[in-house]
Amino acid sequence: MIHSNVLTLIGQTPLVALNRVNPFARVRLAAKLEELNPGGSIKDRVALAMIEQAEASGALTPDKTILEATSGNTGIGLAMVCAVKGYQLTLLMPESASEERKRIMLAYGARIRLTPGHLGTDGAIEEAYRLAREEPDRYVLMDQFNNPASIAAHYRTTAQEIWDQTEGRATHVVASLGTSGTVMGLVKRLKELNPEIRVVAVEPYAGHRIQGLKNMQESYPPGIYDRRAPDMILNVEDEVAFALCRRLAKEEGIFAGMSSGAALAGALQLAEKLDQELDQEPDQEPGQGLVVVIFPDSGIRYLSTTLYAPPQEQGLRVRDLKQRKSVGLRPEKGGLRLFTPGPGLDQWDEAGAWRRIVLLDVAARFQHQKGVKAEVLVGLADLDDRAVAAARAAGKSLDDSGQDVLARIQNLAKLLGVGEQVRFVPAGR
Ligand SMILES: Cc1ncc(COP(=O)(O)O)c(C=O)c1O
Repeated sequence: MIHSNVLTLIGQTPLVALNRVNPFARVRLAAKLEELNPGGSIKDRVALAMIEQAEASGALTPDKTILEATSGNTGIGLAMVCAVKGYQLTLLMPESASEERKRIMLAYGARIRLTPGHLGTDGAIEEAYRLAREEPDRYVLMDQFNNPASIAAHYRTTAQEIWDQTEGRATHVVASLGTSGTVMGLVKRLKELNPEIRVVAVEPYAGHRIQGLKNMQESYPPGIYDRRAPDMILNVEDEVAFALCRRLAKEEGIFAGMSSGAALAGALQLAEKLDQELDQEPDQEPGQGLVVVIFPDSGIRYLSTTLYAPPQEQGLRVRDLKQRKSVGLRPEKGGLRLFTPGPGLDQWDEAGAWRRIVLLDVAARFQHQKGVKAEVLVGLADLDDRAVAAARAAGKSLDDSGQDVLARIQNLAKLLGVGEQVRFVPAGR
């Protein structure tokens, strides 16, 4: 059989049993491998659906340019679909977007407009809205966070495929939350087919580093998201998700992306609970629960992060001026911790100390972007001679004076844009 073009290869991704990472005998786990879509991720389905919907509504005509703010899989999916269909595509993304993704989008012929890095993805989204508003005759905005076509894509394809591939035997389906299109579409279709199926959403904690996912408390919830729709929402730790990605590669031969590890972490929490419940029912045969978990993309998309980096490439390399050699600072289990002495309390705006603080703030942000949790501790000597001198000069008790100076230090940190990963720790406390 010869396919008419790559778009007909979207969907019908395989379900594969997970064996060695699943210790629960009463529960079967199967992963849906979305990396096998032609553009490499689950977002191919959504890209095609949003474009077809815009064509059908008449909003998209050959003279228009498709517009979207995305540095991730949706951009790649849209770029692939536009290449086949011959549409112009402009993608907006922060300067900090990864080089490998930009290159894939450019290879497909998309145009990229960079927005200031410090404004993050919100800056790119605002710019997309501005362009769409100011030039409505030129641009058609896809707006995946508010576009119901993404729910429809999963309703028609992903959910139906899971039903058909398991012959209606799946008891639970687990998917991670980003725009929430996957979860919302799965809930809608699977509940129609069998109201007993449980759809479980996986959400990272606030401050997470799992690309593609959203913690709904720390950012605007997407317009298409209804938090009452999933049967359960499970939170997962970044490090657990990352460790599971590495186990998937070694133990199952599946080289998966970050959000697949997160979904698997949720699926294993669920499987443990089901296993215990089934244990209480003596008549149950092994393998009674069938949990399908969605793996949205491949580990190849994360080679510039530390997800699969060998240990010697993780962390920071710095020049130790005393020893005159380069030394590696490696993240430990909880991440990377950097320490610097802060300013003396009698001279809290001392430039030298603030240069160190800002430098370490930048280093921590850089680590964060590479997928390593990093925190900076700034030690404040609040019981030394200089603190006593500051209290005396202010005519206050040591404690009151310390509190005052700490508030000033925190204000200055805010003014300089120093992030929350920098903590000021008075030594006396
Ligand atoms: C890698 C990855 N995983 C998971 C998701 C979440 O899927 P959804 O947007 O359908 O919630 C996304 C969304 O962008 C993603 O890029």
